[in-house]
Amino acid sequence: MDLEERARAILPPAVFEYYRAGAGEGISRDEATAAWRDWRFLPRLFQDVSRVSTETTLFGTTIAAPVLAGPTALHTLAHPEGEVATARGVAAAGSLLVHSARAGLPVESDRWWFQAYVLRDRSLTEAQVRDAANRGARAIVLTADAPYVYRSAVPEAGAAGPDNRPPEQRQDPALGPDAVAWLAEMSGLPVLVKGVLRPEDALVSVAAGAAGVIVSNHGGRQLDRVVASAHALAAVVEAVGDRVPVLVDGGISDGADVLTALALGARAVLVGRPVLWALATGGADGVRELFDTYREDLTNTMAQAGLKSVADIDGSVVRRR
Ligand SMILES: Cc1cc2nc3c(=O)[nH]c(=O)nc-3n(C[C@H](O)[C@H](O)[C@H](O)COP(=O)(O)O)c2cc1C
Repeated sequence: MDLEERARAILPPAVFEYYRAGAGEGISRDEATAAWRDWRFLPRLFQDVSRVSTETTLFGTTIAAPVLAGPTALHTLAHPEGEVATARGVAAAGSLLVHSARAGLPVESDRWWFQAYVLRDRSLTEAQVRDAANRGARAIVLTADAPYVYRSAVPEAGAAGPDNRPPEQRQDPALGPDAVAWLAEMSGLPVLVKGVLRPEDALVSVAAGAAGVIVSNHGGRQLDRVVASAHALAAVVEAVGDRVPVLVDGGISDGADVLTALALGARAVLVGRPVLWALATGGADGVRELFDTYREDLTNTMAQAGLKSVADIDGSVVRRR
């Protein structure tokens, strides 16, 4: 919250509002963080927590902590170096950046995944995804929960982002699960489906060839009054089982939120707005500090809960309040 207030003081009001916006009345945006607080920890005693490791591996990439930078559009509005600075900060912290299809700049990093939208003109998507694969992206994230860019019923409420693209460059509202295999084949990369809230959609995604699913409500920016990802996670994990990793995003604000998500079965979490606040206030160094802070806070939280490594984290760690 402190970071958000500092960013508010620095950013042009329209940019701050665009980043912070939620759809509708902002009910889902505002509920996201509170929803993680619906679980309580059950610490283990007599564990040797003199050394705690938060390290984990995702699709062959080892990350210092299971906290990734989620895809968010237009980092150049926050900082002149935009996505280049974000990527540098994320890499310095040993994390991974999911680079948005609506980015302000191309990314230069060897620790990144590319987020794709399937556009109405599929040849545009194909060009973006092939380019990402050529430039070293290690996975593709297919965002499936945004058939249309959200537009506020009250434009002056500022909830709509900049989107005056010609129709062929907009998301295809007829997107089907066949897109997963199409993206996997053209890129040769694992494809994760982002925006899953229902167990059956996770199963459809896996059957279509998804290598992972991301439980998300898009930061509450698409459909207001949509369920909190914290409350959707466990059922998706139960349906998916060990078949593919389940990731989650939405309102992850500290190490306790990360531990709760992992205890509910997520393999890693993504953070969206906090990265934008860190970029705006501190550039690449600010982004590195943000991820270092998540890692340190998770380390302390795990130690207090009697957990030496992410492999120790299971459902017994939390109980619904
Ligand atoms: C300013 C902004 C832009 C976003 N742009 C994208 C995008 O281009 N693609 C996408 O898949 N998700 C996008 N998202 C959603 C995020 O990936 C993520 O789901 C959400 O922000 C997570 O919630 P958090 O901001 O509370 O961490 C955006 C979110 C924000 C705040």
